[in-house]
Amino acid sequence: MSLPIASQTLPPLSLYIHVPWCIRKCPYCDFNSHQAGSDIPEAAYIAALLNDLEQDLHWVQGRSIQSIFFGGGTPSLLSAGAYTQLFIGLKQRLTFADNIEITLEANPGTFEAEKFSAYRQTGINRLSVGIQSFHPEHLKALGRVHDREQALRAIEMIRTAGFDNFNLDLMHGLPGQTEEQALDDVRTALSFEPPHLSWYQLTIEPNTEFYKYPPKLPEEETLWEIQDAGHALLESAGFQHYEISAYSQQGKQARHNVNYWQFGDYLGIGAGAHGKVTTLGPQGLTILRTWKTRLPKDYLNPDKPFLAGSEKIDAEDAGLECMMNALRLHQGISEQHFTERTGVPLSLIDRPITEARRKGLLEAEGDLRATPLGRQYLNELLAMFLND
Ligand SMILES: C[S@@+](CC[C@H](N)C(=O)[O-])C[C@H]1O[C@@H](n2cnc3c(N)ncnc32)[C@H](O)[C@@H]1O
Ligand code: SF4
Repeated sequence: MSLPIASQTLPPLSLYIHVPWCIRKCPYCDFNSHQAGSDIPEAAYIAALLNDLEQDLHWVQGRSIQSIFFGGGTPSLLSAGAYTQLFIGLKQRLTFADNIEITLEANPGTFEAEKFSAYRQTGINRLSVGIQSFHPEHLKALGRVHDREQALRAIEMIRTAGFDNFNLDLMHGLPGQTEEQALDDVRTALSFEPPHLSWYQLTIEPNTEFYKYPPKLPEEETLWEIQDAGHALLESAGFQHYEISAYSQQGKQARHNVNYWQFGDYLGIGAGAHGKVTTLGPQGLTILRTWKTRLPKDYLNPDKPFLAGSEKIDAEDAGLECMMNALRLHQGISEQHFTERTGVPLSLIDRPITEARRKGLLEAEGDLRATPLGRQYLNELLAMFLND
């Protein structure tokens, strides 16, 4: 079904590329990541990615690519040479925007950090490094393959390699973690003056080792104290808290992620990658969600299709989904932006909007964004836009 209101412009377009292998599976992780065997079939995977992309090209519709994100799994397990080959193929098929942001997710093991300089030469211009913690006992509890020294060294190597734009991932609320230890992790990260910091509270996800054998997490009260004190620390260091878990220095927001939250489009290639694409027809916008074959061995099997499924988003769901994404951003979105991206008027989702405003969770006027109270009870606010 096409959405009722015609909008003249298509959203900006990004590209997500999934690399599904890791050295070993972390007990808290529910991402599509699989323990790598002795050899990763790099060349076959690069060839598959380009063939996969080939089949998605009709969704580009003349747009240039604003950002690329290599996510995982552990994209830093692939060699710089593999990325060089891949970029040649990508550039033959796509137009890169002049100021394109190209991020690669990396683990801080020595094997990976030694490749940072070579990655920089391929055109990758942003690294996102999964530090998680600097405390040996927490790294151990999280089943990380790197230690504290490797984490510190990897951050130094980001700078040495010439990356002036990078993100560090930290997690808090870890098994046995005190408030002081969580803050100490943040302080250590800040000592490197990262342009961006993602600070996630550990969640226990179904289908993980931690779900089966739950570790003892800090008490609820400690979790709140960690959160409050951490926010205060980051803000006093000049970081802008612009999304639930994302903090950045001025102008260093993760453009790729901001595009997701602003309900932009993205092609998703690679094992299990998800995409969201909009097409423009005489009836208006059609929005499609896509997902690719999940298991690496199936994705690499030429007898199996890359595209595992796709689904049109109907008008009301488009409005609700747009809000669920945009409300994660502190700045929210304007009503005009909402209509441009979804093709529907705001009145279509009048009921949850009115309800959220009545409860003081959504600003009553101006842009669509959470009030300070709404930010405090963000899960409740987002749940109001869940379609059931
Ligand atoms: C795709 S993951 C992994 C990137 C990279 N492979 C790594 O582990 O360093 C991106 C980030 O999500 C966060 N993350 C993963 N699972 C999580 C969970 N259960 N709770 C909170 N944060 C999580 C971690 O900080 C991780 O670095
Ligand atoms: S290294 Fe990252 S993607 Fe791989 S299992 Fe651990 S958290 Fe998940």
